[in-house]
Amino acid sequence: MAVLRISEEHRTISGRTEVAKYLETMAIDYDVWKPSHPLSSSASQEEILEAYSTEIEKLKAAGGYVTADVINVNPQTPNLDAMLAKFSREHWHDEDEVRFVVQGRGLFHVNPKTSPVVGIEVEPGDLIRVPRGTLHWFDLCSDKQIRCIRLFQDPGGWTPWYTDSGVDEKFEPVCFGRSFVA
Ligand SMILES: [Fe+2]
Repeated sequence: MAVLRISEEHRTISGRTEVAKYLETMAIDYDVWKPSHPLSSSASQEEILEAYSTEIEKLKAAGGYVTADVINVNPQTPNLDAMLAKFSREHWHDEDEVRFVVQGRGLFHVNPKTSPVVGIEVEPGDLIRVPRGTLHWFDLCSDKQIRCIRLFQDPGGWTPWYTDSGVDEKFEPVCFGRSFVA
């Protein structure tokens, strides 16, 4: 289950309802999905998409998403650091960023401008929809591993527009959820 950290206010928020309620104030949708049947850790992209097909089709119809795929990032991914550097600077997209975590963990930061920057640590079962135009950045946790379903409105895929604000440098790219929950 996702955990939120609002550094500026020294606040941490956990619990499905509380997390969803806080994210709603910045128009971010949060949900928790369960697979239609158990998935092994070596499940293929097709098996993963099939296990969540009901939720994916619902979301596609509601949000105008036309494609869904599965991205797999781990320490063996070629040019991992260069890839992560693209995610970890503040940016926005002309379409929604929709991610469902199948395996691993990651840390979004969202800068809503009218309220403090919030860190959102996501783990398996978490669906997050960051609306187009929202300023954000993303880091992996220390094990550098995540497997996510992505939904796109633009079949051309992921195009970031960087702000070069440097805001991202003020926030530690360190996951906190597990230590908090423990
Ligand atoms: Fe992004």
